[in-house]
Amino acid sequence: MELVGWECVGMERIKAAVIGSGLIAQARHIPALLEMKREVSLVAICDKNEELARKTASQFGISKAYGSTTEMFSKEKFDLIDICVPPSSARRCCGGVNPAWLPCDDGEANGT
Ligand SMILES: NC(=O)c1ccc[n+]([C@@H]2O[C@H](COP(=O)([O-])OP(=O)(O)OC[C@H]3O[C@@H](n4cnc5c(N)ncnc54)[C@H](O)[C@@H]3O)[C@@H](O)[C@H]2O)c1
Repeated sequence: MELVGWECVGMERIKAAVIGSGLIAQARHIPALLEMKREVSLVAICDKNEELARKTASQFGISKAYGSTTEMFSKEKFDLIDICVPPSSARRCCGGVNPAWLPCDDGEANGT
């Protein structure tokens, strides 16, 4: 594997999902992940407000939208899950999953 800046030549792209389709996801996290398109493939978005998840997916060209994390994790596996929900929901919504990376917009969710 050869590292060229942030790009890893010869590696498959990181398969990512975003949980939460609200303000911070739309304004910051989704655009940032899409900007890293050589390294990251953003394939799914989940929000308990499924209509919002669908609208956001359509707006940003994300192929799948889910209304629950249980459903999303039962159907797909991800390398990276970007959590954009309030701290009160963050721990719960990722219970039982173990992606390689788990960034979160709020440090409380991962105990930091
Ligand atoms: N907005 C900001 O500028 C900002 C800045 C720094 C940190 N944050 C952090 O990000 C969090 C989210 O901010 P926001 O402005 O996007 O809030 P928001 O209310 O606009 O969006 C949160 C979304 O999460 C969804 N959600 C909640 N629980 C869920 C669950 N269990 N499963 C799936 N979806 C769920 C909600 O339906 C909502 O659409 C904040 O609570 C804060 O911790 C926000």
